[in-house]
Amino acid sequence: MTEQTVEPNLSEQLRRAEAANAALRRQLNPRWYPTFHIAAPAGWINDPNGLCFFQGRYQVYFQHNPASARHHLMHWGHVSSEDLVTWRREPIALAPTLEADRDGVFSGSAVVGDDGRLYAFYTGHRWRNGVNEDEGNLQVQCLAVSEDGVSFEKRGVVVEGPEDLLHFRDPKVWRTGGTWWMVFGACSAERRGEVWLYRSENLLDWEFDRVLFRDPDPEAYMLECPDMFPLENKWVILYCPMGPREDGFRARNTHNAGYVVGEWEPGGEFRQLTEYRPLDWGHQFYAPQTFEAPDGRRIAFGWMGSFEIPVPTQAEDAWCGQLTVPRELTLDADLRLRNRPVAEIERLRTGSRESGPFEVGLNDDVVLLEDAEAYEIELEVDLARTTSERVALKLGLTRDGSHTLVAYDDLLGRVVLDRHAAAHGDRGQRGAPFPGGDRLRLRVLVDRGSVEVFVDDGAESVSSFAFPAEGPRAAVLSSESGSIAVESLRVHRLRSAWEETE
Ligand code: FRU
Repeated sequence: MTEQTVEPNLSEQLRRAEAANAALRRQLNPRWYPTFHIAAPAGWINDPNGLCFFQGRYQVYFQHNPASARHHLMHWGHVSSEDLVTWRREPIALAPTLEADRDGVFSGSAVVGDDGRLYAFYTGHRWRNGVNEDEGNLQVQCLAVSEDGVSFEKRGVVVEGPEDLLHFRDPKVWRTGGTWWMVFGACSAERRGEVWLYRSENLLDWEFDRVLFRDPDPEAYMLECPDMFPLENKWVILYCPMGPREDGFRARNTHNAGYVVGEWEPGGEFRQLTEYRPLDWGHQFYAPQTFEAPDGRRIAFGWMGSFEIPVPTQAEDAWCGQLTVPRELTLDADLRLRNRPVAEIERLRTGSRESGPFEVGLNDDVVLLEDAEAYEIELEVDLARTTSERVALKLGLTRDGSHTLVAYDDLLGRVVLDRHAAAHGDRGQRGAPFPGGDRLRLRVLVDRGSVEVFVDDGAESVSSFAFPAEGPRAAVLSSESGSIAVESLRVHRLRSAWEETE
């Protein structure tokens, strides 16, 4: 262990983790630290874990290294909220203490048992060679139980893995028809990415049901963070295939997250009805997890981050990564998922300005904001009366000309997020297919270090990091070689998501 030593007493290990994090917080540089997104108080964050509504509050746990801005020795960090948009920081919930989770308390989920306690399932992770993934992992599914969602008691391993499987992780538990079900991802002996299904009557004793799903793509050798849930009268399997890396817009990232839709009855096979489709087309969208809100909505958080590509905040700012805003998932009649910010996001709005209809003339620029760090733009354009090649938003535009471009590109037939003029961090372009029609509807959420674009009420989305330069950060609407017929434009400033002003 390079950064911490693991000790068997959970409260002592958590005390050390908090102390390490407090030291790191003193070095935090907030220039790109999110205003209205969940991020670690300092250090590293990845997957959302254990999403649930428990004891009157939304609980969000997350993969967390409290001791540095790099992925190492995972803990579960924790925040909670009454309204899904205003968050309170909670103590770190889980830390490695057992032989089975020696090298990390990896991803998992949480459900409320019939006894009113919270049951958190996670992967106990060990490197086979003790240092890295080169010879694979030793992974098992573990349980920890909590009375209050804040402090947990570990109950140890509930699902052992076959000795020879190199990947075996990320349990997601739910109840259907009186039975508890658990899916997780596995790399089969033939190196194929699979979702395995287990069942239980009491949350403690689990038995193998079947291999529920195998990715038809032979290049997919592991399916990380599978989630399975009903929508309309179908079942969705959301997962993150490791391996495929096509050219084009579909799977350019090393890490992608998408879904298939099918039919399933408890005790039966999953019948796949659709092909794999990305849930989000951006550079940074991974490991989404969902839960059912008390009012029945299916809500997802994703992780915006990167394992392979260095992130500028890692080197100098003492933190790395954030979650997406919470998004409501719905299923259209053509079996495509829609993901849009939950309605509660509107509570973050402080000042709003509305304009339109108006025209942006030939090769013209309209300044929407002179200087803003956290805001939302809602734009509706009549494409039938628009001749501009792109309907372009320059975001985080600073005096040096650097910016992130979000644009409907009429030639490509896509809504792109283009970072070729980025001041800091990784560059490159991503883009979602434009659903078609004469009406362009964009909703763009901009935070200090990220941009999330929703096309046509969540029919598609594109989420990426965007790290602007110093100085006032403007937002500008630009036409290119033509004019833009704006139907309506709304610009909202957004407040901090943290209970205490930070
Ligand atoms: C996905 C993932 C999971 C794993 C966790 C470790 O991002 O690799 O499969 O449980 O992160 O932090």
